[in-house]
Amino acid sequence: MKDGLPALLGGDPVRPQGPPLWPVANPAVVEVLQQLAMSGDWGRYHAGHCERLIESLQRAHRVAHVHLASSGTAAVELALRGLKVGPGDEVILSAYDFKANFTNIAHLGAMPVLVEIDSRSGQLSIDLVEAAITQKTKAILASHLHGAAVDMPRLMELAGARGIPVIEDACQMTLATIAGRPTGTWGDVGVISFGGSKLLTAGRGGAVFTQRDDVLQRIRLFTQRGNDAYPLSEMQAAVLPPQLDSLPQQRATRTATVSAIVARLGNHQGLRPFEAPLRDCELDYYKLAFWYDPQAFDGLTREQFSAAMRAEGIPVDSGFRSLHRIHAQRRFRSSGELTAADEADDAVLTLHHPFLLEVEVAANQFLQALDRVRRHATILKTVQAPAMMQF
Ligand SMILES: Cc1ncc(COP(=O)(O)O)c(C=O)c1O
Repeated sequence: MKDGLPALLGGDPVRPQGPPLWPVANPAVVEVLQQLAMSGDWGRYHAGHCERLIESLQRAHRVAHVHLASSGTAAVELALRGLKVGPGDEVILSAYDFKANFTNIAHLGAMPVLVEIDSRSGQLSIDLVEAAITQKTKAILASHLHGAAVDMPRLMELAGARGIPVIEDACQMTLATIAGRPTGTWGDVGVISFGGSKLLTAGRGGAVFTQRDDVLQRIRLFTQRGNDAYPLSEMQAAVLPPQLDSLPQQRATRTATVSAIVARLGNHQGLRPFEAPLRDCELDYYKLAFWYDPQAFDGLTREQFSAAMRAEGIPVDSGFRSLHRIHAQRRFRSSGELTAADEADDAVLTLHHPFLLEVEVAANQFLQALDRVRRHATILKTVQAPAMMQF
């Protein structure tokens, strides 16, 4: 009788069909693709789709300038360039962040200054930003990660008082709101991504937002070389507006699923969700993140746990590597202890968003898989874990 046995031990997976695919089928996108094929716009430099996307993003974000880019990574680079970051400068960012944010700063000849994270929310600790500021600080880069959010009102107050510009990375939190204001529009410059796993996808792509004319001007000077050096194509731009339309409904569904999972988890030992203690927010979930405690699973490592969950068809994976642990010490300055960032490197687990579109079904499956893995943790420890997945 295989029922109830983990899939890694030969049982039937909780989700035999595997994790949900992304993007989900969207008839409005199919229609756009048909129109692109018929009109030939798919193969043109200019066909009005980029202009229309810019207008839609300007309206949705209530922001003066939108500059489209070839990826979120390129958008972060352009944001840094827009703020004149260069050799000799320092840029403050969280020690737990997307690797390319660090690399972008370093490639411009500036020094990444790594700051500790908040041990509940997993986000840049605003309390510790001030101590990291020096005469050389040119910008602060703040990313909303894994379904929680940086306290932007506090960060903007702190940075504003010192005249330091903020880049708000909303690649994982597009068109959510903090205190009624869209994510990506709190900072002097904001960035989003249209990468293939993102909540709005064109396979690749990104955008920069700013109210500042000088920032836009610098970005244009850098990218416009008789041709756009970091372009989003007309075909990519065309598939995004229909997804902007479905985003609010999808966000509501993801939020309901997260509530159902968190409620059922209760204080389920061993999995503690990232907390978002901000008030008056409507957040979104590119990932739902947890702090994983192996002791609650008889010493089953995080990698073994996520391999066992994935075998059940639940898209769970380790979080980012913390930046101070994957770069040589001469390439950054760390501001104070990075204990919580060490903990994040060891213990963050993420659940990928396509799974969050199935509310009760998803919550039941998540808890069922979790229960199986916990009951069989002792024997699962002996199984060779398959390599990490890339969602
Ligand atoms: C926080 C954050 N910033 C930036 C990026 C870069 O986006 P892209 O993949 O479009 O380059 C990502 C991508 O996952 C991200 O998670």
